[in-house]
Amino acid sequence: MGFKDGFLWGGATSANQSEGAYNADGRGLANVDLSPTGDVRESVLMGKTKMFDFDENNYYPAKEAIDMYHHFKGDISLFAEMGFKVYRLSIAWSRIFPKGDETEPNEAGLQFYEDLFKECQKYNIEPLVTITHFDVPMHLVKEYGSWRNRKMVLFYERLCTVIFNRYKGLVKYWITFNEINMVLEAPFLAAGLFIEEHEDAEAVKFTASHHELVASALATKIAHEVDPENMVGCMLAANAPYPRTCHPQDIWKAKQVENQSYFFIDVQVRGEYPAYTLKDLERKNVVLPFEKGDQELLKQHTVDFIGFSYYSSSVVSADPTQTDTIGGNLFPSLPNPYLKASDWGWQIDPLGLRITMNNIYDRYQKPLFIVENGLGAADIADEKGYVEDDYRIAYLSEHIQAMRDAVDYDGVELLGYTVWGPIDIVSASTGEMKKRYGFIYVDRDDHGQGTLKRSKKKSFEWYKKVIESNGQNL
Ligand code: BG6
Repeated sequence: MGFKDGFLWGGATSANQSEGAYNADGRGLANVDLSPTGDVRESVLMGKTKMFDFDENNYYPAKEAIDMYHHFKGDISLFAEMGFKVYRLSIAWSRIFPKGDETEPNEAGLQFYEDLFKECQKYNIEPLVTITHFDVPMHLVKEYGSWRNRKMVLFYERLCTVIFNRYKGLVKYWITFNEINMVLEAPFLAAGLFIEEHEDAEAVKFTASHHELVASALATKIAHEVDPENMVGCMLAANAPYPRTCHPQDIWKAKQVENQSYFFIDVQVRGEYPAYTLKDLERKNVVLPFEKGDQELLKQHTVDFIGFSYYSSSVVSADPTQTDTIGGNLFPSLPNPYLKASDWGWQIDPLGLRITMNNIYDRYQKPLFIVENGLGAADIADEKGYVEDDYRIAYLSEHIQAMRDAVDYDGVELLGYTVWGPIDIVSASTGEMKKRYGFIYVDRDDHGQGTLKRSKKKSFEWYKKVIESNGQNL
């Protein structure tokens, strides 16, 4: 019983939250570089305040992040020391195509990731590569309006063709878009979309979503053509909405919220738009920009596995007076009286992970991959950079237990588990360094101060034992 041999234990990061070096070796500017900290952040992430370039009055944490660009060898050796079997990371599109619409890639960018993948190979760590983790080259935002424009499919196709060929034999696991459903919640953060005042926001977001879904199917097709060994996954931000009461209206509300996210995965796994989305868009007068061949492409090139992130469940209500929401991965949630919450208000619910795994597996019967899970906390390090993060150990251990139950008792097929931010990185929602997820502490604060020195927290040795025992020793 337990996890099968070859279960992929590891950790996950994204380029923009870890690499820094935002303009090194020809890298172009991307939307993800332009998310400042402070009050203006939320409005930028939502695509309401436009940010085309750095503004000297703001602080942009992604510019330097934790400078993994120059520290990756040391960081990967620490992952190897914990026994990682897999390391999920993302490629920064604007390192490979700085503007996005060039026909020739930037060799320095390609070489950087080749070196990184070879470093993983040295330790038998399988890279799991997210092709886009929210990032879009700013040139594509300015000139083409990002994913609202069909040309993005072509630019993305070029990126995929180049990387699949270049990294053939080095990378087998791919994810086409990180948290693809996030485009509906935070359009600039997730897809480089500014919504103009005169525009129909729904129409823009669903047009962009259609283009991403077509691009995802095309990527899956090319990946399989270049190397039939390639395994391509989608990636859902699983927000596990619970109805606030057993009132049928609340149950219906929870189902609708869930459908809003599942619709993307329905397309990527089943190859067609679900009826509930088509009807909903019809009512909203949104016409999907289907072109000749799209339908066949979506149908024929579905994904091999379903990746998803899970941090917390949420509570929703049909009652419009219930507006007292608390934090949670950009998905608003009402408080759940049965759960405790993290320092950032994300409600901690290990059983919710088991429920989510069952929901997704029952719906699709495809292998799952938990590609993000973890606890963001305000760690206090001693003078040596050591953190007694028992709260993180408790969170992870309970979630791994729940995941084991889903595998053992419920028969869910699971390929692997990558803890979010195995090394402290910049938070996507708040831009803070203070919100730490890592087993490895990084000496850097919210104002860009610190030595960037890496040190092991208590959870480092704990996770090492978890991996050594294949999830038995929690
Ligand atoms: C997911 C994203 O939404 O949650 C990550 O894919 C992000 O990029 C993670 O970092 C945790 O969220 P946050 O806001 O705590 O960094």
